[in-house]
Amino acid sequence: MARTQIIGTGSYAPEKVLTNADLEKIVDTSDAWITERTGIRERRLAAPGEATSDMAVRAAQRALEQAGVRPEELDLIVVGTVTADMPMPSCAALVQAKLGARRAFAFDVAAACAGALYALSVADQFIRTGQVKRALVIGAELLSRALNWEDRNTCVLFGDGAGALVIAPTEDPERGLLSTHLYTDGTFADILAIPGGGSLHPPSERVLEERLHTVHMNGREVFKFAVRALAESTHTALKANGLHPRDVAHVIAHQANVRIIESVMQRLEMPIEKCWLNLGEYGNTSSASLPMTLDEAHRSGRLESGDVVAMMAIGAGMTWGSAVMRW
Ligand code: ACO
Repeated sequence: MARTQIIGTGSYAPEKVLTNADLEKIVDTSDAWITERTGIRERRLAAPGEATSDMAVRAAQRALEQAGVRPEELDLIVVGTVTADMPMPSCAALVQAKLGARRAFAFDVAAACAGALYALSVADQFIRTGQVKRALVIGAELLSRALNWEDRNTCVLFGDGAGALVIAPTEDPERGLLSTHLYTDGTFADILAIPGGGSLHPPSERVLEERLHTVHMNGREVFKFAVRALAESTHTALKANGLHPRDVAHVIAHQANVRIIESVMQRLEMPIEKCWLNLGEYGNTSSASLPMTLDEAHRSGRLESGDVVAMMAIGAGMTWGSAVMRW
């Protein structure tokens, strides 16, 4: 069975920068608090009229260009997002049309901040069975429009953006995605949620008044859960491939909070230097964070052929997982 290889990466972040100093004017917070507790210094905000699919398309075009793949050569598009342009059709269908990828079937995967990892794992199955030859995997999120800008517990954390990966089969035994490991525990659904706007609490004045259409989070619980889950899933992923943490050259982790990442790396006994960090500039871009970070690592030229790369992500659900590849 052929293995999946990433042949192109791309990312997009909107131009508008919102710094911690800007946030000091909006809520009762401080640059020092945000930087110390999260590592975030600034984040990007989508422009008025800019939708999730627009950001996704920009990231996808960059990934396709790098891969040397034309949109019409794509067989599949999977978008990880929980902030699609509209409830239906899917963000992926809109991306397919905007790209002109007319041969591709397209759908969304809802796994919150783990969305791109879930999307990659789904697309990987299609590649490995031979049903798909060229796939586009996207993480795109526009959470700034799903935040309560009066809630300092949440509004300081997130930013908008998109990341994309073009994947294809490889017969090279030294390279490619070795395995993906996904997990869900829905009994923790209430520690991180956008409770309103769906079938339970459809859009109404009450939903808007009570801000049920915005992110609600128990930060401490999410923090504890994330550290344990990410360390365990990455340990499992490495073990499944007969690898030791010392074999890992690069870690691409969901960028939620630098303290979560530090704690996970400590548990895995890996030096923090192996982990790519960009949350200082972008904040938590949810499903976009993993492919954006991988794109940054790739474009830096520091990923060498055959390098072991460990990826990990966690999001609302709770959903989480890890993947290991040889670059
Ligand atoms: N500015 C100033 N003070 C704040 C802010 C803020 N933006 N937010 C909270 N505080 C206050 C709290 O009100 C509290 O005050 P109190 O002691 O008077 O009650 C104090 O700071 C400490 O609050 P804690 O919640 O204990 O702070 P903690 O150190 O846990 O940091 C944080 C909070 C950053 C949210 C942390 O819990 C965290 O990162 N959790 C993970 C959440 C996360 O990453 N979510 C992203 C989505 S999930 C994902 O991507 C996996």
